Amino acid sequence: MSAPINVLVVGSGGREHALVWILARSPGVERLFCAPGNGGIADQARCVDVDAMDFDGLIGLCRAESIEFVVVGPEAPLVGGLVERLEAAGITAFGPSAAAAALEGSKGFTKDLCARHGIPSAAYLRCADLESASAYIRRQGAPIVVKADGLAAGKGVIIAQSIDEALAAAAEILDGRFGAAGNELIIEEFLEGEEASFFALVDGQTVLPLASAQDHKAVGEGDTGANTGGMGAYSPAPVVTPEMQHRILEDIIKPTVAAMAAEGRPYRGLLYAGLMIAGGKPKLLEYNVRFGDPECQVLMPRLEGDLLPALLAAAEGRLAEVQLHWSPETALTVVMAARGYPGDYQKGSVIENLNAAGELDGVTIFHAGTLRENGNIRANGGRVLGVTALGASVREAQAKAYEAADVIDWPEGFCRRDIGWRAIARNKD
Ligand code: AMP
Ligand code: GLY
Repeated sequence: MSAPINVLVVGSGGREHALVWILARSPGVERLFCAPGNGGIADQARCVDVDAMDFDGLIGLCRAESIEFVVVGPEAPLVGGLVERLEAAGITAFGPSAAAAALEGSKGFTKDLCARHGIPSAAYLRCADLESASAYIRRQGAPIVVKADGLAAGKGVIIAQSIDEALAAAAEILDGRFGAAGNELIIEEFLEGEEASFFALVDGQTVLPLASAQDHKAVGEGDTGANTGGMGAYSPAPVVTPEMQHRILEDIIKPTVAAMAAEGRPYRGLLYAGLMIAGGKPKLLEYNVRFGDPECQVLMPRLEGDLLPALLAAAEGRLAEVQLHWSPETALTVVMAARGYPGDYQKGSVIENLNAAGELDGVTIFHAGTLRENGNIRANGGRVLGVTALGASVREAQAKAYEAADVIDWPEGFCRRDIGWRAIARNKD
């Protein structure tokens, strides 16, 4: 084995805490850094206050601390070209180039790629003017889905129940509601079915499947209310049977990786496929070019062994050498958010009893928007904690996660009480 190296994780959310948490146990890591990190990450890595979009600052940090490998958590620096900046500075980085990150950075790019290569996805129109958009919406009827082309912090998708709602959404996006992300529109067939996410490592050519998960995007129980970044997740997702996993890989992920290589944008990093599954067939809803948040918080506790060699192999084109093993147990994360989220919320309240909750058997607490101040952990964002538990079944993991969430003393926070409901209804376990 080669000598241990210094590693930097870029980002500050629950996803980055889960990555830091697993990398901290790697024998291949000498010193672990996170920029900018959060109050919980500080337990396992040295947090350095450099923003994820401050590319010069990140390169300076790598030079100052002899960091040899950088794992980029969020999409914005990937789409902005951080990986090629690091590589030009002689630093190995995990994540796609900006050209490959177009899979998340431009929904129109992905739709056109799918169309060119026969990858199953919803029928669509890509356009930049209201006239074409209106004609297509009127021809297709409702429900219909209207999307801004670019990154819109997860808010650029409107599921319109009527033609009028779709027309209004198209007009608003083209009017600049999401800034330049809305210079182009995608108008898409509404797909029915069950949603699931699938994650794979890719090294430009080879695909190493990781695992499936299901997110809970809506703020309210029973999947009601406004959409959020994700209020909880579990892995594996029962809808992704071994046969379904095979179809996802053969029909969607492998053809995408081959298409990206053929088009001169080889994809390296983590590929996250958002899927709609109906009638035994998966269709691609969207790609993300990084781990999901909170899905990463349910994948990492199920990973047995060392993540570092797999991330390095993906970055260096050696994934064919790697094997990963997954616990058959279910992991489930309950997100605790500040009251008011995803609307306005207050920062600064103190969170207590985190240690007692984290000591429960099979429980790990990942921090997202937290800040450590004079020994206190304070809320510092919308999604604040990811209370995660492993169990023999979804029901058991759910019971343990809520037991831990109930130990945490944070009156200014809230969580959904039904994370995992779909799997429990399906399995009756
Ligand atoms: P996206 O960011 O493209 O994944 O869209 C966000 C959410 O909107 C997805 O997780 C789905 O719940 C929903 N969605 C997106 N596209 C469609 C579609 N074509 N049909 C039905 N629901 C969709
Ligand atoms: N949880 C959804 C996402 O990370 O995009």
